[in-house]
This record gives sequence, C-alpha cells and structure tokens, in this order.
Amino acid sequence: MRAKLVVGNWKMNGDLASNARRLDALAAGWKAKPGRELAVCVPFPYLAQARERLQGSAVAWGAQDVSEHAAGAHTGEVAAAMVAEFGSRYAIVGHSERRQAHRESDALVAAKARAALAAGLVPVVCVGETLAERDAGRIEEVVGAQVDAAIAGLGEAVARCVVAYEPVWAIGTGRTATPEQAQEVHALLRARLKRAGAGDVALLYGGSVKAANAAALFGMADVDGGLVGGASLDADEFMAIGAA
Ligand code: 13P
Repeated sequence: MRAKLVVGNWKMNGDLASNARRLDALAAGWKAKPGRELAVCVPFPYLAQARERLQGSAVAWGAQDVSEHAAGAHTGEVAAAMVAEFGSRYAIVGHSERRQAHRESDALVAAKARAALAAGLVPVVCVGETLAERDAGRIEEVVGAQVDAAIAGLGEAVARCVVAYEPVWAIGTGRTATPEQAQEVHALLRARLKRAGAGDVALLYGGSVKAANAAALFGMADVDGGLVGGASLDADEFMAIGAA
C-alpha cells in the first residue's frame, strides 16, 4: 500500500515569531506513524528556522519553488542545492500560482523538477485545470499535457517525484473538488504515470483541503494525501489533516 503524505504549502505567509509557534507545535504534536508523513514547505528565508525547529521531529520540510539552474548569474533565484543544504526533503514546482503569475511553462516546470531531483530533493509537481478549462471539457487534455511534460522531461526519474493535482478553481476558494472529482483525475494521472513505469508515485490532492473533508478525499483509491494551503497555517488543523 502506498504511504499517505500531507504537505503544507505556507505560500507567502509567516514571520519568525508565528512560525516558531507553528513549527514547535508541529514538532511536539506530530508523532511518527508508519505509512504517514507530514511536511511543510516554507518561504525560502525560513528554511533555516524550519530546520532548527523541526530537526529530530517526525515532520519534514522544504521549499515552494527552485530555480531550473544549478548556479550562476540568476538574480533572485534560489538553487535546489541551496534548499537541500538546509535539510529539506521537498520542493514544490509548477504551482498554479507560479504557472499563472510567473508564466511557468510545462517545460520549465519539468526542468525545475529535474534540478530538484539532481540536488536530492523530492519535487512535488503541481498540475490542475482552471474552471474555464473544466467547463469546456478539457480536463484530461490540460492535466494530461502537464503530467506528460513532466514524464517527457524526467524520463524514468518521474518515479521519484510526487504529483499534486490542484484544480485551480478549488485553491483558496473554499470550493473543494468532491472526492469523486478528485479520484477521476487522479485515476487518469495514475494511468499515464503507470505507462511511464511510475505507477506508484504519490498523488496528492490540493484545493481547500480541511480536517473536515480530508478523510473523504484521502479515502479514494488514487488519492495518497494532500497539498494543503490555508489550513496548513493552523498547526492543530494541519495535524488533523495529516492523521485523516
Ligand atoms: P488552499 O488549501 O488554501 O486552497 O491552497 C491549496 C494550494 O494551493 C496548496 O498548494
């Protein structure tokens, strides 16, 4: 059976004082459980704080993006090796907020995933359709192209990624995909990954996950956990999602 993984995406939230409270609550409150993993992806400046507060605990940490480049003249970018140096396990790549606001293409997202893997990180590759694309019946076309680009860019190494399905219309809107809607897309992602020899990749659902809806979502056959935004900012709520 595939393990369950719940990753918190803090997005651009937090400060040293509130992070310390949240990280300490997670370190103290989350007990290692077989087949369960909890992780938080924090803003870059707080990676050192995440390491300081979480090392020795059962909670992993990581970043929300990495550069596709290894090093050099890329002002403002952060290399995957730098993220890894702080003990990180994960790096989110291709979040829809970056695909939209920073025009990240499928090919760029694959290059970022490759850079993360090369640094020893596990990329959490995000895919998902907009409401207009869903309404136009284009879910499989859009999400399929996004995952196919990762498969094409990574080859066999795609088996070492996590893939997160985050329908754009469900992010931060309180409008969660139903468990059946999530399962439908996860099944098509699983089929494509399986054809590429990566059928056991962890497939996370993201978009308004809360403690109240997590168990129903995570109970679906191809949903292996969640990528959690807003609810990951509340340690107790987040741990309840991790235990769901
Ligand atoms: P919310 O959980 O706030 O909807 O955000 C989801 C998300 O974008 C996680 O990456």
